[in-house]
Amino acid sequence: MRVIFYTGKGGSGKSVLSCATALRLSERGYDTLLMSSDPAHTISDAFECSVGSTPTRIKTNLSAVQVDAFREVRDRYGVIQSYVVSVFRSRGIDEILAYELASMPNMTEFAAMLKIVDFSDEYDAIVLDTVPSGEMLKNIYLPSLIGNFAPKLLRLIVPFANIAKIAEPVMGIPAPSREVIKEDIKLIEVMKELRDILMDREVTSLRLVANPESFSLQNLKRTYMLANIYNINVDLAIINKILPDSVRDPYFDKWKSDQHRYLKEAERTFYPLPIRKVRLYPSEVKGIKLLSEVAYELFGDEDPAKIFFKGRGISVNKTESGIEIVVPMPFVSRDICEVERTGSELSIIAHTDIGEIRNFLPLPTAACMMRLERAKMIDSELHIYFVREE
Ligand SMILES: Nc1ncnc2c1ncn2[C@@H]1O[C@H](COP(=O)(O)OP(=O)(O)O)[C@@H](O)[C@H]1O
Ligand SMILES: [Mg+2]
Repeated sequence: MRVIFYTGKGGSGKSVLSCATALRLSERGYDTLLMSSDPAHTISDAFECSVGSTPTRIKTNLSAVQVDAFREVRDRYGVIQSYVVSVFRSRGIDEILAYELASMPNMTEFAAMLKIVDFSDEYDAIVLDTVPSGEMLKNIYLPSLIGNFAPKLLRLIVPFANIAKIAEPVMGIPAPSREVIKEDIKLIEVMKELRDILMDREVTSLRLVANPESFSLQNLKRTYMLANIYNINVDLAIINKILPDSVRDPYFDKWKSDQHRYLKEAERTFYPLPIRKVRLYPSEVKGIKLLSEVAYELFGDEDPAKIFFKGRGISVNKTESGIEIVVPMPFVSRDICEVERTGSELSIIAHTDIGEIRNFLPLPTAACMMRLERAKMIDSELHIYFVREE
């Protein structure tokens, strides 16, 4: 079984790349399911056919399903949510506000991902055209946070609803019904299964999608960092919508030189991930013929189910006095690197053969509360040490 999901900002090409990947997988004989939670029905558009809320056969070996995220939330979380709301209301909180507090952040995206568990036994490959933002990946850690304790309801609620302070004085709240506890246990079980699937580096890979522009890359760096922290395999970065060389019109000169620069930046940022490039097509990418072309540009004759990269890019390790972040920087020829903290990011200035380059690295939350102690190049890796403040 293989689970592949694409992430990147809206419009970068996740849906097109997911469809192209699923198509090629099916052609290679994998029984493939393409899953989307995007209410815009992009799969239907791309394949020019209608896709329903149960798996719909598109062609040999290829099915697609449009997950109704809101229904999933209601079905999976509705009972618990009603209870949480009753808790808040008993504390004198207005009902509308209570519903807001009780809703889980990123719940809709997350509910769509829970569907992976339902389908995991039925298919050889699942491709997700959903939008798992880096923040959402946190949710898969919840089951382990809750741990093996008897699933006491508040343990479930507190981390979800950002309400630790309000929920603290737990006396006098309504007791959860049996049904609530049952649902609660069920949800935890499914979340555990999901976590096991997502964190199995032989099964699941996250693939990053960006366009050759500044904002798109910046956005992905954080996701890349978070995935590394959460120990999720990231095996490929794809830069999509690159102007091809055949475009000669001087009108696009600046676009082309900027894109060239951002491609170089992407190579540094995502090293050692392999980077694949896809050109900007002369039209929107719709229909099997064009999707097939994209798939060929992406994978050539390779198997899209291959794990293209197995290691960990950036690693974050616990040390006795704090944490250590290790960033591979093979392009830095000399030993000098300036590392400076700017808010929740690190600014890294490296001197290379091609001059000075500056790189920003989003920091894990734990490091934000620590002091930057020192940074050191060891064998082409920058080791950055943070220590806890006394
Ligand atoms: N390489 C490409 N060349 C031309 N158009 C593309 C390319 N990749 C994506 N598109 C088009 O860009 C739009 C956004 O792509 P989409 O895959 O829906 O992005 P996302 O799912 O990330 O929001 C769609 O109209 C799609 O057909
Ligand atoms: Mg999309």
